[in-house]
Amino acid sequence: MLAGAAHARAIGRAATRQPQRHRHSNAHADRRTRAERPELGIRTGGHAYHGPVCDAADRLEPGSATQRVPRPALRATAATDERLPATIGWDGKAVVLVDQRALPEALRFVRAGTVDELCSAISNLVVRGAPALGVVGAFGVALATIAGEDPHLAAQRLAATRPTAVNLAGGVRRALAATDPLAEALHMIDEDIDRNRRIGAFGAELLLDRARVMTHCNAGALACAGYGTALGIIRAAHESGRAPSVWVRETRPVLQGSRLTAWELAQLGIPATVVVDAAAGAIMAAGKVDCCIVGADRIAANGDVANKIGTYELAVLAHHHGIPFVVAAPVATVDLACAGGAAIPIEERSADEVRRWAGQPTAPADIPVSNPAFDVTPAALVTAIVTENGVARPPLARTIRALCAADRAHDH
Ligand code: MRU
Repeated sequence: MLAGAAHARAIGRAATRQPQRHRHSNAHADRRTRAERPELGIRTGGHAYHGPVCDAADRLEPGSATQRVPRPALRATAATDERLPATIGWDGKAVVLVDQRALPEALRFVRAGTVDELCSAISNLVVRGAPALGVVGAFGVALATIAGEDPHLAAQRLAATRPTAVNLAGGVRRALAATDPLAEALHMIDEDIDRNRRIGAFGAELLLDRARVMTHCNAGALACAGYGTALGIIRAAHESGRAPSVWVRETRPVLQGSRLTAWELAQLGIPATVVVDAAAGAIMAAGKVDCCIVGADRIAANGDVANKIGTYELAVLAHHHGIPFVVAAPVATVDLACAGGAAIPIEERSADEVRRWAGQPTAPADIPVSNPAFDVTPAALVTAIVTENGVARPPLARTIRALCAADRAHDH
């Protein structure tokens, strides 16, 4: 575990290393079988999940979790994880999503069998996180095709639901270009998990033993098809015995940190402490943070990073305290068509996300609210961007482009 300056050297030292092969340590894994842990609705072997299902009709109102009998036979993918459910699945007729509004209180699932239902699930944050949105965008085009709807119209509607995460429009485009959109969407699940494992392997090499990592929002398995990006790095470090621990910022207003990240880390047995967002500076000043790792919704060509509101503030604090600030994202999150952060569209969400919580008022009912869902961290505050193709370091405008080119060369 290192203080900021020494830790920055550790990051530098790992620059040219190749990622280690994923080493799965079962040291901390929960070895109980699924049958012994029915509360998790886990699918093992990647073939089925056994949790409660909330069907489309009653799916989108908070608290409407009509629980149905377990639904068998999700399509097999590489998304096997003994401890976390598959964020996104396909049951032969509908997309099956972990209902992220219900966690951590309940693990339940939502089925979306039409483009309308999927658009609602995206807008209402049943499913969220840039890589996950890319995959469900592709499934949306598949649903339109299966139903005989115009896939281009569906694509427009899907892409408009959440404008900041470039992965969503990218996933939609990929499915539109595919001869079999459903096969493409299914392939994207496996691909996403594979990429995240590579991000994890590269990123874990940056962390020294017992690193105390601060993160924001949820960039874990729930934000992806599986494994996670920022949390993927922490997972990989944990699995390789480096014993990281995590400061989890709660992430106002909808608490992706305290609800989702804290839940994931608890499932994985990784030590984590939840703090209110405003505590970050004091904890850094006390010398208790070695590194910040966050995800990204869109990375501009110059290395500016759009991510959950509050990320910029965290980066400024990290800079002030000399703490490395690392961004983890697949190259699909890089938008070379966006020259800089100013060109990234920032989603403005409902005022009631701020004025109310769990049905209770948290502000006067009519008070004006500004609720931007994301902010932009300038490239100058970013120590490194970890992708599945390697680690980009300043000057990010050059290095991130090179990693994207490596991806295109790999694909073709
Ligand atoms: O509004 P959300 O919950 O979709 O925002 C998600 C984030 O900001 C994540 O950090 C980002 O998408 C990266 S997820 C791997």
